[in-house]
Amino acid sequence: MYRYIIKGGTRIQGEVDVSGSKNASLPILAASILNNGITKLYNIPNIDDVKITLEILSELGCKIENTEKATIIDSRNMTKTTIPDTLMRKLRSSIIIAGAILSRFKEVSFTYPGGCEIGTRPIDLHLNNFKKIGIKIKENTSNIECKCDRIETNQIQLDIPSVGATENIMLASVLGTHEITIKNAAMEPEIEDLANFLNKMGAKVYGAGTNIIKIIGVEKLRDVSYKIIPDRIEAGTLLIGVACCSGNIVLNNVVPKHIRSMLYKLAECGCDIYEEENKIQLKSSGKLIGTEIKTMPYPGFPTDLQPIFATLLATGKGTSIVTENIFENRFKYMQELKRMGAKITIEGRTAIIKGVNKLHGAEVESTDLRGGASLVIAGISAKGITTVNKIEHILRGYEDLDKKFNILGANIVREQVI
Ligand code: UD1
Repeated sequence: MYRYIIKGGTRIQGEVDVSGSKNASLPILAASILNNGITKLYNIPNIDDVKITLEILSELGCKIENTEKATIIDSRNMTKTTIPDTLMRKLRSSIIIAGAILSRFKEVSFTYPGGCEIGTRPIDLHLNNFKKIGIKIKENTSNIECKCDRIETNQIQLDIPSVGATENIMLASVLGTHEITIKNAAMEPEIEDLANFLNKMGAKVYGAGTNIIKIIGVEKLRDVSYKIIPDRIEAGTLLIGVACCSGNIVLNNVVPKHIRSMLYKLAECGCDIYEEENKIQLKSSGKLIGTEIKTMPYPGFPTDLQPIFATLLATGKGTSIVTENIFENRFKYMQELKRMGAKITIEGRTAIIKGVNKLHGAEVESTDLRGGASLVIAGISAKGITTVNKIEHILRGYEDLDKKFNILGANIVREQVI
């Protein structure tokens, strides 16, 4: 177990690079088994969720090699079609590997996935739509078995534009002789990145990035090298972190259009933002104006940045309103923020935040990945010392968050708890 000890109130300024996207890496790693060959991936972040995904691929029979710049997956000797329960429970996106195994081997067996506790996170959309494309499913209390002789041509309509369900259906239907259309598909940049990767491998996926995706099955795929997109949530976290303090940051390896909705909100709160193609500079006086945010599927304001932005609003001038429309249990971290002096009232899916002048240091606990990151930011901007316990959640999804903030002038020490 580890914790962060943060000495708050330091000036934050400098230049850092954004790492590769977690939420693009995980489905692309899953997709790497589809070519029955060799996949070379660049810009994969060094985070625990990636390590668990690689462990699953290795358990299934893939050979993994990590060089300084690339992660190489050789899936030629893969034979297993059961995802081990212990690993399945560690990660929500383990469910996506099921679609890829199914596409290649026509069968897969797995248990219910784990992941951050931010809501019920069902998998009904994944399974119901699997059935619509000809996959037979046997489900009991703990285990799910899927089989299919061939994927059947169909048009499916998602009830909710679920990121995971869109990815899983894409992966399940890459190989074959069918045509699948997904309507009301998720439009997140990570979906587009997955489609670009699959197409580079020889797949035929059209329309990713819009709400209608068409997949024409192909007979086989080839070896591939691919560079993952930058992590828009990490980019948002770093920018909001600097915005909370009086600071100035140059962020490299970022795609501004992927965080457009958040950049508008930062400007509304009073930050100065300058953009270039893969670069953003942000200047903040640290005295920001409160605002209203409502989380929505992309291109709306991302649910993953809701806890981070709410931390900024905790010291914003006036009253701010945060509405969480994606996950019903994503305000847990607010109890911890309150220990640091935040004034928040929660009414269902809405939080009303009365901005205080400054937060103060306290001992707090990371409740989930993004909630944990929000406490780190709170600690950097607060007066005094903050201890963030249970940072395992943060290490799952951020590569060197502490080191990156320290490069910018923060004072964060990572300590092992014995
Ligand atoms: C992905 C991201 C996560 C992000 C989320 C929303 C990864 C690894 N995770 O999660 O970081 O917060 O998108 O942008 O990429 N739903 C159902 N039934 C289903 C599936 C989902 O009702 O079968 C609901 C969920 O409860 C939620 C909504 O759909 O209310 C969106 O979930 P979804 O987009 O599927 O999120 P994830 O893929 O789990």
